[in-house]
Amino acid sequence: MRSPSVRLPCNGACIILKIGGSLLTDRDHARRMNHERAAAYVRAIAGSWSALSGRLILVLGGGSFGHNVVQCHGLQHGVIGSDLLDRQMLTLSLLEMKVEVSRQLRAAQVPCFPFHTSSLLTTRGGVIASRHLDSVLAALHEGILPVFTGDVVFDHEIGFVLFSSDRVPEMFLGRLDIARVVVLTDVPGVMDESGRLIECVKSDNWRDAWSATSVSAKADVTGGMRSKFEAVLEAARLGIECLITDGTDPEEGIRAVLQARPRGTLVQFAQPVESAAALGSPPGSGTARVGEPVA
Ligand SMILES: Nc1ncnc2c1ncn2[C@@H]1O[C@H](COP(=O)(O)OP(=O)(O)OP(=O)(O)O)[C@@H](O)[C@H]1O
Ligand SMILES: [Mg+2]
Repeated sequence: MRSPSVRLPCNGACIILKIGGSLLTDRDHARRMNHERAAAYVRAIAGSWSALSGRLILVLGGGSFGHNVVQCHGLQHGVIGSDLLDRQMLTLSLLEMKVEVSRQLRAAQVPCFPFHTSSLLTTRGGVIASRHLDSVLAALHEGILPVFTGDVVFDHEIGFVLFSSDRVPEMFLGRLDIARVVVLTDVPGVMDESGRLIECVKSDNWRDAWSATSVSAKADVTGGMRSKFEAVLEAARLGIECLITDGTDPEEGIRAVLQARPRGTLVQFAQPVESAAALGSPPGSGTARVGEPVA
């Protein structure tokens, strides 16, 4: 990575929080919010805002504003020149979600700003090729909460790729001083083959944990726990503490952001490990390849 990491001047290292679309939406119905849960998350963020201002980046999982729309418009895979009329559809749908959550945050006195991932990134064969993060850093500097979703991102080789919300933290690796990545979803964390929670993932057991992960039981185009875990590994392998945990209760979910040892699966490596890409998930499944040259 060419650009040096930025340590935010006032409030120290950042926390990136992804709230799963499995929590914020009704995955059984296209483009339907779970209004009650979204409102409870807004209240919980507002309640802890004095501790989070200037150091939190919020990522909204697309849920039924994402997976269903991608399926409906055939946006799973990029082909140069294809889908030109439909390419905007995921971005528009996720914008609806960002607008709704951003309005609620404003009403709760939390200053936030919605960003389009596709406006800040390009990829080449699914790997980040350029990123323009100055506006996000400026927002954090002013104490504004940047709000992201996944997106359809322009790709130099294949027209576009589906860049899942699980991959959004990857945008900031090497550019921000990140204390923790917290990923909230509808299960207690990464479960092993017998359905038991794997509490700690370290350099000696991460391959076993990876083997236990698979796709989502619901309508899904971004790879469920498998790609979530792979995305988290990319941050963890740089030494960042990462947590995958249950966000069904929003108060608990926001506590997980600030607590010293929250419940769930903690992924933390004492020294760098190789990329999960080496394990061979199909391209576009969410596997990140950090460390390749990016602007
Ligand atoms: N080993 C595993 N441990 C836990 N969950 C797993 C595992 N393997 C697969 N899963 C599935 O992954 C799902 C979580 O990922 P999913 O993509 O459905 O939710 P999300 O990422 O929170 O939502 P969204 O993709 O809309 O943001 C679980 O509900 C479960 O069905
Ligand atoms: Mg998912």
